[in-house]
Amino acid sequence: MPRLHTSDSWKKLEQLGEDTKLSTIEELFREDPSRSTQHSLELNGLYLDCSRNQIDKRIKSLLLSLCDQAHVSDQINAMFSGKKINISENRAVLHTALRSSEKTDPDGPLDDIRKSVHANLEQMQHLTDTFRSGKLFGATGEQIDTVINIGIGGSDLGPKLIYNALKKSEDPRILFVSNIDESDLDSKLNGTNPARTLFIVASKTFTTAETMTNASTALTWLCKNLNIDEQNAITHHFIATTANPRAAKKFGIQPKNIFEFWDWVGGRYSLWSAVGLPISLGLGFQQFKALLKGAEDMDLHFKSAPNDKNLPILLALTGIWHINFKGYSAQAILPYAERLAIFPEYLQQLEMESNGKMTDRSEKNIKYNTSPIIWGSRGTNFQHSFAQHLLQSPTITPCDFIGVITTIEGDESEKSLLANCLAQIEALAFGSQKQESSGQAKQSRIIEGNRPSNVILLDELNASSIGSLLALYEHKVFVQGLIWNINSFDQWGVELGKSLAKVIEKQLDEENVESESITPNSNLLERIKLSKYRASQK
Ligand code: F6P
Repeated sequence: MPRLHTSDSWKKLEQLGEDTKLSTIEELFREDPSRSTQHSLELNGLYLDCSRNQIDKRIKSLLLSLCDQAHVSDQINAMFSGKKINISENRAVLHTALRSSEKTDPDGPLDDIRKSVHANLEQMQHLTDTFRSGKLFGATGEQIDTVINIGIGGSDLGPKLIYNALKKSEDPRILFVSNIDESDLDSKLNGTNPARTLFIVASKTFTTAETMTNASTALTWLCKNLNIDEQNAITHHFIATTANPRAAKKFGIQPKNIFEFWDWVGGRYSLWSAVGLPISLGLGFQQFKALLKGAEDMDLHFKSAPNDKNLPILLALTGIWHINFKGYSAQAILPYAERLAIFPEYLQQLEMESNGKMTDRSEKNIKYNTSPIIWGSRGTNFQHSFAQHLLQSPTITPCDFIGVITTIEGDESEKSLLANCLAQIEALAFGSQKQESSGQAKQSRIIEGNRPSNVILLDELNASSIGSLLALYEHKVFVQGLIWNINSFDQWGVELGKSLAKVIEKQLDEENVESESITPNSNLLERIKLSKYRASQK
């Protein structure tokens, strides 16, 4: 793999990034009035406009040359064809196979994968139809009408995002529990009828502490409230979505209630697998299929479009420009839709767990920045909290705006949302100069503009468009990882905290901190124990 950051293109981009005479966004628009159409692309009702970035033709072509040097096209083919590109775990990366309807590899390994995926989809459809037609019954013979998904990270965020984005008032109640903090589960169990509740234990590994603890607490609650034994409760009220069916069986879940997926599906890419079961149960199997189809449309585009007309590649390159050459280390995600309120949180995992890394694919430390710090919130709420920072802070944060042209509610609010969305985009890019032409405005009131943003407009918020939107970001993350020469599909960093927590949990049970095991944490452990002691004396 070439060391991109020592290449001529990289060095030229570094010089351009520091050039104080670079045309501003406003100047770029003046120089080329057709700029917005030239920097916009569309796919099936998803319109991406990257024109409001300080990227001129020279910069764009240098960024595109980074793609060639990183062999992006070959790497895309390697991913889609099942090569083991997750080198640190020796695994293929095939979430795209979960949404593939084409026969790409007749009689080859990919076709076998396709057959297993289809068998899995049939199992999901069967359960969905049984549940939604009122024919799924609990241990006491009552009809199941509520589903609680217990999972965390990728086993929670994707399904929760989609269900919340698309649910209608007539859809069944699906709840999501993730935190080990009992108040999360308690708040969902409160007011829920145990006789009518189905729990999905969603965990790729089936070992995650939060999920296994919540599953055990839910089981105890069921047994106590229905006065039944554990095996009866598990048989009638528990299903598992997992890549570790043995552990699910050990927990007591019936083989027919285990919805399996595979090690080549990364946790943060798993909503397209059986982990998407709450989507199917909540919105209907056809909606789940439409979601897969929307993602597949983006996959086919990503695979076949030339780099300069490729939506994920264009989005990735604007990020590379900002992070590596302009020194902007954050990225704000601003959906103008209440239904997409958790989209920033979803992207936090997708982007930061994938690309928050400092070691390249040959195990060498790298000298450039990788994943942006993803943060954000939905409009119009953020306008009354952090928009001020975006507009006038010396720290510049590029923004991705997501606007929905026809909302599900289809009411007057869509006009206000769009107007506010376009207003923020304009204020960031062009500032207040035009309004302050007299030149007498106080400095504190001037909005300088020249703040970059991308705009994504969805004709409608529906299963297909949201499928395309998520696949757009998945592939953007992949392309950025290729340019940074990192493995976007492992997450070794999170393991240390998990093992330390186990040790510390035991230390919290000990009477005193042993003098020989004094650590920088000892004062905190002692302070926690003191507080517990004081509380017990009250
Ligand atoms: O700890 C991080 C992580 O492994 C994520 O990658 C994953 O989505 C989440 O935990 C949950 O893991 P699991 O699905 O195995 O419970």
